[in-house]
Amino acid sequence: MTLSEQTLPKTVPARRRLWRALDRRLGLSGLAYPVPEHANSIAYLLGGITFAGFVILILTGIILAQFYNPSPAQAHDSVIYIITQAPLGDFIRSIHFWTANLVVVTAILHLIRVFSTASYKRPREINWLVGLGLLAVTLGFVFTGTVLKWDQEGVEALAHNREIGELLGLWGVWFTSEFTRSVPILTRLYIGHLTLLPAAFTLLIAAHMYLIKFHGISKRATPDAKVDDETVIEGSSSFIHHLRRLVGFGLILFVVVGVLAIIWPAPLGQAGIAGEEVTKPPWMFLPFYPLEDVAGVNGLLAGSGLLFFLLALVPFIDRSPWLSPRKRRWIIIAGLVLLLVLIALGVTAWISRPVPHLME
Ligand code: HEM
Repeated sequence: MTLSEQTLPKTVPARRRLWRALDRRLGLSGLAYPVPEHANSIAYLLGGITFAGFVILILTGIILAQFYNPSPAQAHDSVIYIITQAPLGDFIRSIHFWTANLVVVTAILHLIRVFSTASYKRPREINWLVGLGLLAVTLGFVFTGTVLKWDQEGVEALAHNREIGELLGLWGVWFTSEFTRSVPILTRLYIGHLTLLPAAFTLLIAAHMYLIKFHGISKRATPDAKVDDETVIEGSSSFIHHLRRLVGFGLILFVVVGVLAIIWPAPLGQAGIAGEEVTKPPWMFLPFYPLEDVAGVNGLLAGSGLLFFLLALVPFIDRSPWLSPRKRRWIIIAGLVLLLVLIALGVTAWISRPVPHLME
């Protein structure tokens, strides 16, 4: 039967006819697979909201890239150009800035949700590790983005980048100026921000989504719920409804960052002076700052490495079949202690005066 024979009569509303025509060509009704009702609650939409944030970051990032100049002599001036001359430049830069901050918040809340509902348990252990990879890439975006501003905070972030690279020896050579004399390190971090990190993000998010579809969303962590020994994709809601809610929350996120961008435009400090250390890092890196007080950049490296190592262990040490937090008391307490330690370190850094940490 040809496509035209399948066309619905003109009496059928235009919207339905359009849906039918697109469905015939793109198989859209394949998206109407069942998902459990609880997947539509905000707690289970946090990963999707994070993804929506990335869409906003890509769109605004493409616009910013038209005006940003990644050479050390021009970078800071080009950010001033974006703020003062580029059409809607200040607003778009501020949306990029606020979305980057909120995406870290929603990714952390998503991690906390997955942790508290034990959704890392079998068969989802690998997806937990993929998620950690996504978190690392997200922090990589924030770090390189901070350098790109090329104000004092950016110049100091780059100095940390260099010193970490040197500490890592051969493994860290890419992060140092020794890697090549032909392209300045600022320009290479810009290329990293635009190509390497997006490529890593694309691969990881494709794996994350594939595994979510493969396993289905985890059950609710009710008092008697146990891990799934078999994957059964069922539920009273549909993925199309889930997508609609996601688009709704994505739009709310866009409005929130738009309002924040108008009220508090993204900050930019004076052009950076190499060798000075007078700023503190962005809030998500603050918990590692007091460790730098104790052991310099070694403390930063050891602290962040230990954090990711502990998180990576979670699915392999909590092997009981139970999902409910009440039946997983010790791991919930361990998680809370870790969170409190990170908050305490962050607050300590926030109220302390900036001090020099680098050897240079
Ligand atoms: C940073 C970017 C991330 C994005 C865009 C993302 C996206 C998503 C989405 C859309 C879901 C579907 C359900 C939901 O939203 O709760 C999901 C589920 C999941 N995510 Fe993420 N995620 C990210 C980071 C993480 C992190 C940091 C972890 C943990 C270390 C993680 C682990 C998981 C696991 C295990 C599932 C399956 C949960 C279940 O079946 O209930 N994700 N993610």
